[in-house]
Amino acid sequence: MAPKGLDYELLNENVKKVQYAVRGELYLRASELQKEGKKIIFTNVGNPHALGQKPLTFPRQVVALCQAPFLLDDPNVGLMFPADAIARAKHYLSLTSGGLGAYSDSRGIPGVRQEVADFLLRRDGYPSDPELIFLTDGASKGVMQILSTIIRGPSDGILVPVPQYPLYSAAISLFGGTLVPYYLEETANWGLDVNDLRNAVSQAKSKGITVKAMVIINPGNPTGQCLSEANLSEILRFCYQEGLVLLGDEVYQQNIYQDERPFISSKKVLMDMGPPYSKEVQLVSFHTVSKGYWGECGQRGGYFEMTNIPPKTVDEIYKVASISLSPNVPAQIFMGLMVNPLKPGDISYEQFIRESKGVLESLRRRARIMTDGFNSCRNVVCNFTEGAMYSFPQIRLPPKAIEAAKSAGKVADVFYCLKLLEATGISTVPGSGFGQKEGVFHLRTTILPAEEDMPAIMESFKKFNDEFMEQYEDHKGYSRM
Ligand SMILES: Cc1ncc(COP(=O)(O)O)c(C=O)c1O
Repeated sequence: MAPKGLDYELLNENVKKVQYAVRGELYLRASELQKEGKKIIFTNVGNPHALGQKPLTFPRQVVALCQAPFLLDDPNVGLMFPADAIARAKHYLSLTSGGLGAYSDSRGIPGVRQEVADFLLRRDGYPSDPELIFLTDGASKGVMQILSTIIRGPSDGILVPVPQYPLYSAAISLFGGTLVPYYLEETANWGLDVNDLRNAVSQAKSKGITVKAMVIINPGNPTGQCLSEANLSEILRFCYQEGLVLLGDEVYQQNIYQDERPFISSKKVLMDMGPPYSKEVQLVSFHTVSKGYWGECGQRGGYFEMTNIPPKTVDEIYKVASISLSPNVPAQIFMGLMVNPLKPGDISYEQFIRESKGVLESLRRRARIMTDGFNSCRNVVCNFTEGAMYSFPQIRLPPKAIEAAKSAGKVADVFYCLKLLEATGISTVPGSGFGQKEGVFHLRTTILPAEEDMPAIMESFKKFNDEFMEQYEDHKGYSRM
C-alpha cells in the first residue's frame, strides 16, 4: 500500500532531524524507573514548581480573580482576597476585551505590553516602544517565531553558543537552517572570545553559509555564567561589523547568585554604546515568567522586544503571530504582574518580598552547595553557578569508562549519567545534549531540588562517582582539568 500522509517515511525530514536531550534517553529511562516505583529526583528540566517551589501568593490571587470574575461580585470577596489583589484583577480585566476567555490582539494585550515597556524603561533607563513588544506563550515560542522568520534554508546560519540550550539546535533543525557553533571557554568561566566568533563566521562563509544571527544566553544555560558589560559590547560591535541580528535570551535575568557581575541587558549595553551601534544593531531580546523567583513554567508566558528591526519586518512577524490568533491570556496577566510588581506601601508588598527573596536566597545557597559538592568529587570540576538554574560539572572519564561506554553502544557521558540514574535516582542531562568540545564530558543538573534535600543528594552523587571512578580508573587519586 502506498504510504499515507502522516506515515513516517513521508514526514518532513527537518522534523526527523530534531534532537532534544532535555527530554531524551535519560528522561525516558527515569520515567520508566519511576513507574517501577524507584524514587527519581528530576533535575533535568528547569521546572521549579515541579520540585516543590511554591507559587508567589499575590500573582495567583490576581489571576484567580481574573479567572473567576464572579468572585469580585461576592460580598465576601474582601475576606478572601486583599484589596490590592482585587484592584489589580479589576485593572487587568479592564484591559482585556471580554476577560480571560477572549482572544487578545495577536501581539498581546496592549495595556500589558505598555507595562512591559515601562519595566524596560525602569530597568535600562531607555524608552521602549510597546508596539515593538510581542507577548508570547513562553520565551520558547518567541524564539521559534523569530528563528522561523530569519531562516530561509540550509545556507542561512545562526551562531549559537556551545554548550547551548537545545531549543536553539532543535528549532534551527526544524526550520531547516544551519547551526554555526561558537565555543564558550570553560577555563575562562564560560566566557566567549570574539576572535573565536570571527573564525566561526569565516569558516561558515567558506562553506557557503550566510550567518544572519547570533544567539547569546545570558545568564547562561547550561553554563550559568553572567556576561560582563565589556563582553556584551564586544559582541554588539561584532554583530554591527558582521550585519547580524543579536538574539538575546535573557530568561534568567532574575537568577543571579553573586554580586560582582549583576545582570545587564543587551539592550542597555547597546543603547549606552550610542550611535552608530544604538541606531543600527538589530536586537531581539526574550524574557519569560517561567524562571526567576516566579518559576511559573506551566503558565507559558513570555515576551520579546525588538530594537532596530525594520517596520516591514515587524509587520511580517505580526502577520505570522496572527496565524495563532492570540497568546495565552492568563499568562499575559502573569507577565504584567511580573514586570509591574507590588510597590512599597501596598498591602501585600511585605509578603511578596518575603516570598520572592526567600526563593532567590535559597537558590543562591543551593548553587553554592552544588558547586562545592561537585568540586569535592574525584575527577569532577565545576565552575560556580553565577546565574540561571544549573550546575554543569565536567566529569573526567577514565579511558576504561569510555571503552566500556563504547562497548555498551553509548556516548560516554550518556553511559555515566545512566549509571548515575540507576544507582541514585538522580536524573540529569548528559553534556553531549548541549554540545561540548570533543573528548570532554559534562552533565547538567538543575540547582532546584529542595535545599534540605541537597546535602543528601550531593552525598549520594559523591558515593556513586567514587565507586564509578574506582571501577574504571587504573591509578587512584584526583586529577584536575
Ligand atoms: C535559555 C532558555 N531559554 C528559553 C527557555 C524557555 O522558557 P519558556 O518556558 O519561557 O518557554 C528556557 C527554559 O528552560 C531556557 O533555559
